[in-house]
Amino acid sequence: MSDPGAGSRRDPAVFPPYLYEGYRATILRAPSKRFVEIPETPSEVTGPGPALSEVMAEDADLTRNAGTEGEAMGERIIVTGRVLDANGDPVPHTLIDIWQANSAGRYRHRRDQHHAPLDPNFLGMGRCLTDEDGAYRLLTIRPGAYPWPNHENAWRPAHIHFSLFGPRFTTRLVTQMYFPGDPLHDLDPIFNSVPTDAARARLVAEYAHDVTEPLWALGYRFDFVLAGRHGTPFEDGDHA
Ligand SMILES: [Fe+2]
Repeated sequence: MSDPGAGSRRDPAVFPPYLYEGYRATILRAPSKRFVEIPETPSEVTGPGPALSEVMAEDADLTRNAGTEGEAMGERIIVTGRVLDANGDPVPHTLIDIWQANSAGRYRHRRDQHHAPLDPNFLGMGRCLTDEDGAYRLLTIRPGAYPWPNHENAWRPAHIHFSLFGPRFTTRLVTQMYFPGDPLHDLDPIFNSVPTDAARARLVAEYAHDVTEPLWALGYRFDFVLAGRHGTPFEDGDHA
């Protein structure tokens, strides 16, 4: 195999390598050929943009978007922040998709057979749009840690998956958000495939007491930076 990722324009100080042996799925998934650079054309720079009209306000509340009468079980949290470009300017009208395990650490997915209960009132997915200031706000529950077959006694730290789709192809970002103070961070090969302390720190949300609402929900702040030296590390493919 030639150097996986050779020819990629990703900053190796920010993004995980395509091949990180501790994260076993990357051994099969890493590219085996050099990247071919394709110049950006007007279609990449201007389009296509997400289907913004289909995003409803209630999609941003994962505690109540399962189509049931009930409310999701777990520790209610507010996740809020901004989407910024490489210059620190806000990126409005970005579609943010979120998916996550339930409070017991299980996904509503046929391949997830973790011996943990499903929550009939929790789908584990939602979406919202950033406003004119690039800001977003989601209401959900804190996901549980879950085991995965990467290595002996492997557990993923609590995390939320995000996919961002701005007005064009070049404003796409897929990443995971982690929670502060989690002892599983140091043991997680996906988290540790991100190459530097500074870049890993950008994947950990900040507890925000000013976002916390009395008698209701704990608040976390998490900003996305789409590119540049302070960019949010981008992850590849797998949903783990
Ligand atoms: Fe996951």
